[in-house]
Amino acid sequence: MLKTPSLFTPLEMRGLRLRNRIGVSPMCMYACAPDGLATPWHLVHLGARAAGGAGLVVAEATSVAPEARISLADLGLWSPAHAQALKPVAAFIEAQGAVAGVQLAHAGRKGSTQVPWVGRRSVPPSEGGWSVRAPSALPFGPHGAPPQTMTAEDIARAIFQFAQAARHAVAAGFRYIELHLAHGYLAHQFMSPLTNQRVDDWGGGFDNRVRFSREVARAVRAALPDEVALAARLSVSDWLDGGWEPGDAFRLGRLLREDGVDLVVCSSGAIAPGSAPPGGPGAQLPYAARMRSETGVRAGAVGAITEPAQAEALIADGGADVVFLARAMLRNPNWSLHAAQALGAQAPWPLPYARAVGG
Ligand SMILES: Cc1cc2nc3c(=O)[nH]c(=O)nc-3n(C[C@H](O)[C@H](O)[C@H](O)COP(=O)(O)O)c2cc1C
Repeated sequence: MLKTPSLFTPLEMRGLRLRNRIGVSPMCMYACAPDGLATPWHLVHLGARAAGGAGLVVAEATSVAPEARISLADLGLWSPAHAQALKPVAAFIEAQGAVAGVQLAHAGRKGSTQVPWVGRRSVPPSEGGWSVRAPSALPFGPHGAPPQTMTAEDIARAIFQFAQAARHAVAAGFRYIELHLAHGYLAHQFMSPLTNQRVDDWGGGFDNRVRFSREVARAVRAALPDEVALAARLSVSDWLDGGWEPGDAFRLGRLLREDGVDLVVCSSGAIAPGSAPPGGPGAQLPYAARMRSETGVRAGAVGAITEPAQAEALIADGGADVVFLARAMLRNPNWSLHAAQALGAQAPWPLPYARAVGG
């Protein structure tokens, strides 16, 4: 009997049992009408990757409020109607044997833009956009909308909105809730000295800059049933002088673990124009191993994972607990089933597709 490849070893986390260590990384689809309700696109896109054998399928950055969106086409979870629209999506993912997850997000100063294929131009309120708010009144680059500084009430409201959205996510049937604390969105704007110039309790030293993320994590954890897993995605580095650094991220990882976070996904960059891993996202892969070893929290690795052997090595060598794939999953929804074949693991194709394999 051959040993099961590490990539296909189940992972237990609270009430979850992932059938393998392969996660579909959250990816904005910009496929909603301006109301933020899920459409058939979400069912087909996420459902195909669940049928394609992934252990965990995470729906895109999903806005906790209308003013939390990146664009008018973003998915939302700010009302029971949004949960209702996502219910069939989560149910289908789970029916395929995958765990249904969703990433909760607030864009802060990176909100009110066109969808990327139109050009990311900021959309003024006169054209259906909104006036963006952020920790400090600093725009994202020369073409970003000028944000208003968030008041203490704005901050409290945003924390409450994350907790409310988490309740809606559970009502929709999601069992893995990921907080988007990365990629230059609102929580990251609080963390990075490049975007936070506040002099109150929410800015200044490290403890004040991470306060927003920690308060969100605690509020969401308190809103979730015990068996639902809570994850957080961090940009481990800004890759810019004077910015947020890996040492800060590991320190925060330890605190988030105390706050009830079960897994930290290690991404990087996107706090400002030019904030990106040198040579592409593969450069951030080693951070997951360090997050695990330095904090004891489970870690997810993401960035240029394309080959089954590469994913297997990351899990087998302690580089990560879960690997997340984005673009490779767009290219091939059945990536996980092909990886099982390549590594000699048992992972049956869905019965209606059985004739695709074995001649
Ligand atoms: C189309 C697309 C949409 C994305 N949307 C999100 C998102 O909603 N949330 C997020 O955290 N990352 C998002 N990302 C980043 C990916 O999740 C991932 O971190 C990045 O693409 C690197 O992984 P890869 O090399 O496997 O593509 C997106 C990436 C792509 C390609």
